[in-house]
Amino acid sequence: MTARELFEYFRKDAHWVKADSKADDIRFGDENTGVIKVGCGWSDCLDNLIAAANDGCNVFISHEVPFSWETRYADITQMEWYKKRVKVLSDNNMVLMNLHDTWDHYPKDGIREGFAQLLGLKELIKEMDYIHPFSPTVTTGMNSLGIYRIEKTTAGEFAKYMCQRIAKTGAPGLCLNGDPDQTIETVAIGVGCHVPSLEAAANGAQLLIDVYDRHFQLNSRIPLVESGLPVITVEHSIPETYAMNLMAKHISEKLGIESAYYHNEPLGKYYTT
Ligand SMILES: [Fe+2]
Ligand SMILES: [Fe+2]
Repeated sequence: MTARELFEYFRKDAHWVKADSKADDIRFGDENTGVIKVGCGWSDCLDNLIAAANDGCNVFISHEVPFSWETRYADITQMEWYKKRVKVLSDNNMVLMNLHDTWDHYPKDGIREGFAQLLGLKELIKEMDYIHPFSPTVTTGMNSLGIYRIEKTTAGEFAKYMCQRIAKTGAPGLCLNGDPDQTIETVAIGVGCHVPSLEAAANGAQLLIDVYDRHFQLNSRIPLVESGLPVITVEHSIPETYAMNLMAKHISEKLGIESAYYHNEPLGKYYTT
């Protein structure tokens, strides 16, 4: 199988992705390369590429669009981080592709399912679309948000439990805003940056899980907490990375191609006062 065929294998099932979408693509390397071993990870960060290259991967699939950077810079090719990544790719003849829109909603192994599995959320009671915090017309047109029933607990106890679960992904911790003693029996999660908000609460969610990359403190998290909603916030990669483990498993089980999962995104160390 070539890298292009591997890419098309996943794309063919992704009827929800617009045909002209450029969110998913082969970004580096020769698409006719024969696939030997595949590395899967949330991002094309340097440490993921180095680890995959060292393990003999000649294809790397990231979820997020590779070489993501502040768009105000026209040319990234002279930037140190970019040159380091490209050096690993070219020195190891690696092909780099990403599956973003495809994996966001891939049945069973996709992003929200992966996060639900990681958190041990089993009873899905409601799904709904995501609406961008700053534009009511920007939605995914998909059931991005899910509300899950859990055993009665408190927001604080759930936060401790979730901390243990996400530790598997290298996460150093999470932040709970709101009353830790608040009783909850439902939790809302989304798809990466497509995070739950008041709509989810209106549909029965008693705790929301969001990410720093989309829910800003001023515009979202403070008003949500003042609305009586406990909110757990983590880095953007945390709700999405585990599904890349499911992608690696899918490739080895369904395609019989050696694959591995990488989660070496720098997540820092939490210092608390
Ligand atoms: Fe994302
Ligand atoms: Fe995503």
